[in-house]
Amino acid sequence: MSKLGPADLEDLISSLGVAWEERLRVKVLVGPGDDAGVYLIGDTAFVETVDFITPPVNDPYSFGALSACNSLSDVYSMGGTPITALAVAAFPICDYKTDVFKEILRGAQSILNTAGVALMGGHSIEDTELKFGLAVTGTVDKNKILLKSGAKEGDLILLTKPLGVGIITTALKRKLITEARIGEALKWMLTLNAKASATALNADATSCTDVTGFGFIGHACNMLKGAAVDFVIDSDAVPVMEPAVELARENIFPGGAGKNLNFFSNRVQFNSSIPEYIKFIFSDPQTSGGLLITVNKRNIGTFENSDMFYKTIGYVTNGSGILKIN
Ligand code: CO
Ligand code: CO
Repeated sequence: MSKLGPADLEDLISSLGVAWEERLRVKVLVGPGDDAGVYLIGDTAFVETVDFITPPVNDPYSFGALSACNSLSDVYSMGGTPITALAVAAFPICDYKTDVFKEILRGAQSILNTAGVALMGGHSIEDTELKFGLAVTGTVDKNKILLKSGAKEGDLILLTKPLGVGIITTALKRKLITEARIGEALKWMLTLNAKASATALNADATSCTDVTGFGFIGHACNMLKGAAVDFVIDSDAVPVMEPAVELARENIFPGGAGKNLNFFSNRVQFNSSIPEYIKFIFSDPQTSGGLLITVNKRNIGTFENSDMFYKTIGYVTNGSGILKIN
């Protein structure tokens, strides 16, 4: 019996795509397989995505806020602007009071206010484990959609948030660190990818995705799917949150990190000098992670002149879709 993996639902939906009538097909600018779908109505291109997660932190307000950030991210990674959202929730009724759920919604609302997104409603079901997220609709300039693919030889590769969120929240769940030590992870999870997206658009980025459940290596590999280029990464240049390095050295990782490393290993070439714990950090599943962007060298000034956080972590060469980590 084969289990449905995290990547498989998109693939299954993609395999159904052939059933679309011509009438629909001409309107679907981006179908399943990218960060979000894009559909054209008149001259307006709409971006649609849904994401919901289990709580990586204990505080309900923070959970609602970071889950909202996480759900909005796929719109930003397409170069879009989110406009409306619907809440999706699974809730163990007997374990929690309504107050907890109100706090989750208040947290989500705070982020939606910042992002200028209207919460239009939602739907909840009873479940054994708490889950919360958003279905988000946005708009995007139909001529400036940031796809996963499109990296060109000579482009620079940028990352807009440090890695390590999964490691840090796993350590919190296992009570290996206190709440006080997740501050940096929380700060990054609550950082919207709005500015990174706008800067990528201004810099005419050639491709873009957000780093989430498949970790850095998984999402980089997805950008390289079927591509005639390789990514060459300088592992020392990849930003990592400080507590994560320390925890990784002590072998503390979420189960997903090992799964990602396994799943993508045939498309990743690690230099023999890369320690094992770095491989796991690069495979660590991120919640509300940063954008991974490729951009022509000529346009890097747009990033240099912005006040947003980013690191240049490598470059693109001719190749066959291999992620090379030095
Ligand atoms: Co995504
Ligand atoms: Co997503």
